[in-house]
Amino acid sequence: MCGIVGYVGGRPAQGVVIEGLRRLEYRGYDSAGIALVDGGTIVSDKRAGKLANLEKAIGESPLPQVTTGIGHTRWATHGAPTDRNAHPHVSQHRRVAVVHNGILENFALLRAELEHAGVEMASETDTEVAAHLLERELETAPDLTVAMQRVCQRLEGAFTLVAVDALDPDRVVAARRNSPLVVGLGEGENFLGSDVAAFIEHTREALELGQDQVVTITREGVQVSGFDGSPAQGRQYHVDWDLSAAEKDGHDWFMRKEIFEQPRAVADSLLGRRGADGQLQLDEMRLSDQDLRDIDKIIIIAAGTSFYAGMVAKYAIEHWCRIPVEVELASEFRYRDPILTTDTLVVAISQSGETADTLQAIRHARVQRSKVLAICNTNGSTIPRESDGVIYTHAGPEIGVASTKGFLTQLVACYLLALYLAQIKGTRFGDEISQVMDQLDDMPGHVQTMLDKAEEVYALARDHVETRSVLFLGRHAGYPVALEGALKLKELAYIHAEGFAAGELKHGPIALVEEGLPVFCVVPPQGRDQLHDKMVSGIQEVRARGARTLCIAEEGDASIEPYADALITVPSVPVLLQPLVAVLPLQLFACELATLMGHDVDQPRNLAKSVTVE
Ligand code: F6R
Repeated sequence: MCGIVGYVGGRPAQGVVIEGLRRLEYRGYDSAGIALVDGGTIVSDKRAGKLANLEKAIGESPLPQVTTGIGHTRWATHGAPTDRNAHPHVSQHRRVAVVHNGILENFALLRAELEHAGVEMASETDTEVAAHLLERELETAPDLTVAMQRVCQRLEGAFTLVAVDALDPDRVVAARRNSPLVVGLGEGENFLGSDVAAFIEHTREALELGQDQVVTITREGVQVSGFDGSPAQGRQYHVDWDLSAAEKDGHDWFMRKEIFEQPRAVADSLLGRRGADGQLQLDEMRLSDQDLRDIDKIIIIAAGTSFYAGMVAKYAIEHWCRIPVEVELASEFRYRDPILTTDTLVVAISQSGETADTLQAIRHARVQRSKVLAICNTNGSTIPRESDGVIYTHAGPEIGVASTKGFLTQLVACYLLALYLAQIKGTRFGDEISQVMDQLDDMPGHVQTMLDKAEEVYALARDHVETRSVLFLGRHAGYPVALEGALKLKELAYIHAEGFAAGELKHGPIALVEEGLPVFCVVPPQGRDQLHDKMVSGIQEVRARGARTLCIAEEGDASIEPYADALITVPSVPVLLQPLVAVLPLQLFACELATLMGHDVDQPRNLAKSVTVE
């Protein structure tokens, strides 16, 4: 949500800022803008719509070639996505320009105060107050850094702010509270970005900032302080992926590229998890064996796709470890007064590591002194930083807004966590754990097998371009897969799509079934309890009422063929691991259908990659 770029150095800032914004486009936005510092004045341009609109405007009326600038892609919260409300916002006397991600909760009060003092507002945004406040502070503060520290002490809510001062052209100042911001460390130049994608083309050395910190970048260096002015330090780290990971690599969409990267992503997330003694090891776990042995309840919190990974985790952990697991939507968690003790393990699953609901949920859990473990893809992000331990998923950067490899690698991390707990608590024998690890090691190959069927799935998508409603059914670990398939379709194709537990069908949803309605059915592997047979009955029931059944079933499962209008087979794997292969046709279907419908697959309407406001 919102992309932020800042630059000071020796190159033309316009190019660096626009390119940075382009690499942050995936976060989701509805307007874009840039401000440059030009010999004592601020020049800026900002436009509603895509970055191309801004570039066109700059093309028609060029900006000066200067070397300090800030830029922004805005995902509207306060005020419609118009030119006027786009960032940067410039102060009354045009001394300061500001961009902002987050929500300033006390902006109405500050706005009233400024209006009372005679400031005329140029927009309906909360951000604009920060520009005016900084300009007023600069009347007495020695520089923009001190002005920023003072202003931040007056702000409530979540924010990343980045500002420039027309009279101090070699300085960009930023601040963060509950909102993402990273520093890129260059030679004779420095960068700011919402995430490292903003500057990965120029440097892979990054500095992670703490909560409530102000950072000043100049050509020569970087200085960090608290909001109170006390000196502070960020954590420097090396980004372990490069520019090519942030490119489309010949695919039409990042999402499609990321779907096809999944065999490697799954392999990477499994890498180095078995020690020389064959024991499972999780390097970044940080929770002691005793802490883990004491756990008597697990609560998984997450949003969207990550929540569905959590649902699969519940089945795996309860089965292998016999610990009760609750899975909770992060946005609901705090508000139901959850029962948390020091022996509760809260597992927060988040691809971005910045989702505001999930972050607030783990803070709540830590206040209750529960232990928090993050499952996260983004190194240096806030959720792992604020957790007691972390399992990184190692999927590499996920740029398509709809999560794909993020989901698969979260599943892998969940299985690893379940097996690790089983090992520590002794609820499974070592050879049972090894056997599942061997099955996991086969998964990259199985995922590839599924991707080799892409053409089959694309043909199915071509048959459904006129479709306006699709149902998804699953049981057991296939139920979250059904939910995920429906979410992907809603997000990308903008059509009605709903996932159900197949057993619930007769309790209501079956009334939706009518002639020709496509129903995806995720069929559990054969030979496990009555799970499979119950699913087959469900398929028969919807088909008898006219549904067109699109079945995803284990290879060699002859029982499905008579009832499947279309059949996509998946390799034979245990039921708990089946989501890793069963979800692939659903990802491919949604991506292809949305493409055929002419939608922007990487940046679906109204969505943001990382939801940094509650
Ligand atoms: C769906 C999707 C979202 C995210 C959700 C949580 O394709 O991407 O539903 O899964 O916003 O995001 P993270 O995992 O970053 O916390």
